[in-house]
Amino acid sequence: MENINAVITGVGGYVPDYVLTNDEISKMVDTNDEWIMTRIGVKERRILNEEGLGTSYMARKAAKQLMQRTNSNPDDIDLVIVATSTGDYVFPSVASILCDKLGLKNAFAFDLSAACSGFLYLMETGASFIRSGRYKKVIIVGADKMSAITDYTDRATCPIFGDGAAAFMLEPTTENVGIMDAILHTDGKGLPFLHMKAGGSVCPASYFTVDNHMHYVYQEGRTVFKYAVSNMSNVSAEIAERNHLDKDSINWVIPHQANMRIIDAVANRLELPLDKVMINIQRYGNSSAATLPLCIWDFESKLKKGDNLIFTAFGAGFTWGAVYVKWGYDGKEQ
Ligand code: UT7
Repeated sequence: MENINAVITGVGGYVPDYVLTNDEISKMVDTNDEWIMTRIGVKERRILNEEGLGTSYMARKAAKQLMQRTNSNPDDIDLVIVATSTGDYVFPSVASILCDKLGLKNAFAFDLSAACSGFLYLMETGASFIRSGRYKKVIIVGADKMSAITDYTDRATCPIFGDGAAAFMLEPTTENVGIMDAILHTDGKGLPFLHMKAGGSVCPASYFTVDNHMHYVYQEGRTVFKYAVSNMSNVSAEIAERNHLDKDSINWVIPHQANMRIIDAVANRLELPLDKVMINIQRYGNSSAATLPLCIWDFESKLKKGDNLIFTAFGAGFTWGAVYVKWGYDGKEQ
């Protein structure tokens, strides 16, 4: 039997119109453009500020564009998986809302929770369904409305995050392209350093939790930074070595867009110049599960069939990893 690979056949994306600049953030908290640019690298971020709209709204826009670009018939979609930490509701899933909004009658759907590494986990999970031979069209979506869980009175976290969504279509191929390898890790000991204190079953919402700002991202930045640098660098080097890739044969690295200094460290470790690294942190900030596919959405026209791509991310959990993709088509200006 021929080997089935899962190939990415298209990308769709969406970022909200509202642009939150560093100057505006400087009016909310004691900070300035220079500090944010030097320590993080974010110039502006997009915010979904229309009342009543949640993560599924952005996921729907991204998936709709993906369906158009891949000429997909809604009846042919077998599966939808959404990576998010900011679902519209605790339940049901964003994925099930998405199925309804997109009119997908033959798909089953669920959400996946792996914080900022969500899209790495999605690629490997979605690819496994394709490789099983039972599913022919799988939509994977990374979507987060981080503004919903960002404390705009906390200068240590509010400059970092933004909102966005992007999606890939996965399909089977017998060609030697697609999602080739993945190294994924989880270490639950990371919990104290990065989490949301209330709103879950341990500490449900109450007047106390609201008064004490417990429904926002809590992060011990320095600790998370240290783990992100070492783990993203190590796992990227490991997947490159395991697949006999070096600085000449790697065409692109797609790192999670959390901090420009982390991105620099990963590029240095792989000995890659920054023009081989997809970077859009300055425009969107950290949109958590959406950063990796949003990079591809932005850089798609530069991609060529056969290009070697390494995706890497680190996030709450802790979760981290790297995915090696051999790109499946020549990108064009959209
Ligand atoms: O996406 C999930 C994974 N997350 C990450 O990868 C994030 C990893 N962490 C980071 O990116 C960085 O740790 C931060 C950007 C969060 C913080 O940068 P840092 O260089 O680690 O700053 P720090 O927390 O060590 O703070 C240094 C100083 C402190 O002042 P003192 O105590 O030295 O006087 C902070 O109070 O910078 C101060 N500071 C600020 N100053 C101006 C913190 N935030 C700000 C701010 N503006 N916005």
